[in-house]
Amino acid sequence: MSQERQSGTQIHVPVMPTEVISYLNILPDGIYMDGTVGLGGHATLILDHLTPKGHFIGTDRDDEALSYCKKRLSGFPTPVSLFHDSYHNFNAILDGLGIDQVNGFLLDLGLSSLQMDSPERGFSFVVDADLDMRFYSSQGVKAADILNQLPAMELADVIYQYGEERRSRLIARNIEKMRPLKTVFDLIEAIRRSTPPNHRDRTLARVFQAIRIKVNGELEKLEKFLSSFTKRLVVGGRIAIISFHSLEDRRVKHSFKELAKKGALSILTKKPMIATNEEMAENRRSRSAKLRVAERSA
Ligand SMILES: C[S@@+](CC[C@H](N)C(=O)[O-])C[C@H]1O[C@@H](n2cnc3c(N)ncnc32)[C@H](O)[C@@H]1O
Repeated sequence: MSQERQSGTQIHVPVMPTEVISYLNILPDGIYMDGTVGLGGHATLILDHLTPKGHFIGTDRDDEALSYCKKRLSGFPTPVSLFHDSYHNFNAILDGLGIDQVNGFLLDLGLSSLQMDSPERGFSFVVDADLDMRFYSSQGVKAADILNQLPAMELADVIYQYGEERRSRLIARNIEKMRPLKTVFDLIEAIRRSTPPNHRDRTLARVFQAIRIKVNGELEKLEKFLSSFTKRLVVGGRIAIISFHSLEDRRVKHSFKELAKKGALSILTKKPMIATNEEMAENRRSRSAKLRVAERSA
């Protein structure tokens, strides 16, 4: 592993850093939970604003990312508690720490650059690798299991619902014909057989997204979090969520709206924030990012 990869700092640039920190309105002695702490990019910025009386809690499902993060955050004077867990288990995590409520939650959904660029993990369609796509390396089901075992109709539904890809049935039939698929390039070949060349890149992105969402149960976890986070946020505390595709953003938007109707939240971003042109030019990942922020009002 290169020095750059080991340091963790060069390989993932946090998205919308200034906006996230300003919207979180960090109280120096407050408690903040970053549910997708990843390589600790946003975490270091939050910790820069906290005193030793504050507390930073981070979770990530990715063991490799979390071990980078542990080292990176070890020099801060503020207590840091990191958990190799999914953010949707925040109730149990906070109970375990004896913490009733936090002053802020952050979720920066999706993939880190480390995951995207790790050839062996199968997230990218640029490099050949095993069809894995798990965030958590000892989690049971891999992409290959879904692609090889799901009946074609069910696979088509996954590709349609989680990838919003209208050629889902044809792609699923071609996957079925090519079974067993072993590597990323096998999946690309099945998609190549199902699409005209001019639409292929978008279709590839949509199918990879769909399989990754299914492998990791991403939408279920987000929904579970959204259905219960308000109780663990102090009145006046803030939640910031960055999403990278419409399936996630829609769920965040809908949930914030419903909670606002009930008087539990007040929405601070009427429209989602997007990165500035400068940030988009410097950090490709920021191009599809949408930030929504709300404050607990009652
Ligand atoms: C975009 S990265 C976060 C980067 C981080 N904000 C930073 O600045 O370094 C998204 C992270 O979310 C993690 N992740 C995805 N789903 C998760 C879940 N359900 N629970 C915890 N972490 C998750 C991924 O492993 C990945 O490290």
